[in-house]
Amino acid sequence: MAMSSREVCRLWCAVVCVVSVLAGQVFAGPPPDSWEVVVNDAGVSAMHATLMPSNRVVIFDRTNMGKSNITFPDGYCRENPRDQKLKRDCTAHSVAYDIATNSIQCLKVFSDVFCSAGAHRADGTLLQAGGWNDGGNVVRTLGPNPNDDWIEYPNAPDALLSSRWYSSVLILPDDRVIIVGGRRAMSYEFHPRATGEGLFKLPFLRDTNTIGSELNLYPFLFLNTDGNLIIFANQDCILFNYRSNSVVRTYPRIPDGPRNYPASGAAVLLPLSARDKFTRSEIMICGGTPVDAFQNVGKGVFDLALTSCGRMVVTAKDPKWTMLQMPMPRVMGDMVIMPTGELLIINGARNGSAGWRSAKDPVLTPVTFEPARNRFTVWRASTIPRMYHSVALMLPSGKVFVAGGNANPGYSFRNVEFPTELRIELYSPYYLAKKYNARRPNIVDAPKVVTYGSSFVVRFETASKPKGVQFHLYAPSFATHTNSMNQRMLVLASDPVGDPAQGSNVCSTVVYAPPDPVRAPAGYYLLTVLNEGTPSPSVWVQITRKPAQSPAQPLRRAASGVA
Ligand SMILES: *[C@@H]1O[C@H](CO)[C@@H](O)[C@H](O)[C@H]1NC(C)=O
Ligand SMILES: *[C@@H]1O[C@H](CO)[C@@H](O)[C@H](O)[C@H]1NC(C)=O
Repeated sequence: MAMSSREVCRLWCAVVCVVSVLAGQVFAGPPPDSWEVVVNDAGVSAMHATLMPSNRVVIFDRTNMGKSNITFPDGYCRENPRDQKLKRDCTAHSVAYDIATNSIQCLKVFSDVFCSAGAHRADGTLLQAGGWNDGGNVVRTLGPNPNDDWIEYPNAPDALLSSRWYSSVLILPDDRVIIVGGRRAMSYEFHPRATGEGLFKLPFLRDTNTIGSELNLYPFLFLNTDGNLIIFANQDCILFNYRSNSVVRTYPRIPDGPRNYPASGAAVLLPLSARDKFTRSEIMICGGTPVDAFQNVGKGVFDLALTSCGRMVVTAKDPKWTMLQMPMPRVMGDMVIMPTGELLIINGARNGSAGWRSAKDPVLTPVTFEPARNRFTVWRASTIPRMYHSVALMLPSGKVFVAGGNANPGYSFRNVEFPTELRIELYSPYYLAKKYNARRPNIVDAPKVVTYGSSFVVRFETASKPKGVQFHLYAPSFATHTNSMNQRMLVLASDPVGDPAQGSNVCSTVVYAPPDPVRAPAGYYLLTVLNEGTPSPSVWVQITRKPAQSPAQPLRRAASGVA
């Protein structure tokens, strides 16, 4: 029986297709990285999330779009006459995910936290700023202890001078936070405010706002090693003195297209190092969209996202963008600094923009980047799209918390292209593979509190003789809208590691704390030991001033007459 030419062609194609599919799946042994779904229904989709020192991940969404998928177990209902959808709402819009017990606990937010921002204060309290509707001028806190819940300030409605919707927040060396930008808010302000302090204009936000009257949002903010702020918006970047409200330096424009919301590329400050006494700083920005991608979605066109990254030494004499190409284009890809000092680029889409129903073709594969080698590596794909309103956070275990994804204005599980995503996944990067266990260090003993400029002893065990040992400090991010605010890593100086005592595999060495709060604002950091590039699980260390130095606790004059 003779085959028709079409049948021959189909057979040929089948052979070639099978071969090429297999070729893409050949691994030498089990793949070193892995994904697991740890929670099937978090109840609240992770539009915003951050890791607390109590090892809880606090998640919150928005309060004004109707019910979430989790009802308060204690019968509590929020009665807010200013809510736009439900005056009485018995569902939670914030939850805490406890890492140790893999459980979800409901938290109580009152006014609307939609598209807001946050930072961790020196004492580990989360400070959250802004939102929408009745929440735009509000500041809220959530304490560092395991059962703490949200507190809205008694004068909550005017805690901020300007309504802050899509603003960015950064912790400063004086323990205050700076709140920058937001929709129709081309300004910045501080919290808490000094007496008589007002709002400061920031014309840079207006000058870089070329795509509409108000859409240049969630600017990227970093604290530079000289105490100034690095502010990036659209394609432009400045070094800014927030104390004198003046631009110190203007950097070249990054090529290819806009990078912050709604273009939603991602930005990091690369790890700072004791090798240069924490004087050099370099930023890296990856992905984004071509100009007009956000408007084109309105015309039914989903532009291909940018493939390029730019890195620039901000402290160089003559700073320039060095451009690199990622293995694939990406918009809304979160960038997480891994304990190794490498970057993880995860989540996002190939086409479209940030915004409701504005993206197509989820990018499911994470990519890592080695800054020292300028090398990208493509890893194993997830099966769950994480596009608009999703997050990624580094955990003390070295696993990555991946959650959220909701391109729909409310919670929609049916008849939509991308249903509201409530699953929590943990991604285990390659360095957690068993084959590295032989050299994986484990911290046995480290101080809980360390003061600036001090040295401290870290004891750790390793099965192998320690080689190339390094100590990293990591300030966890507040993640929302592809912006990992306050994420920061420091590579610390340390003394050479001695051999373990006879019959023991515990080594100890002296490690040097960061010199001052400009290099590392006071607060809780994750400390990691690396042996031959393999990271230990991390432990929390609080970096503080010596008690008398603390500007947040001015010394009180002793009452007269008291002996
Ligand atoms: C929402 O909650 C209901 C009731 O608990 C549950 O059956 C459903 O699976 C949840 N939806 C999602 C997407 O998790
Ligand atoms: C993504 O962009 C490319 C390049 O413009 C285009 O060919 C493709 O059709 C787009 N995909 C979608 C889903 O719109």
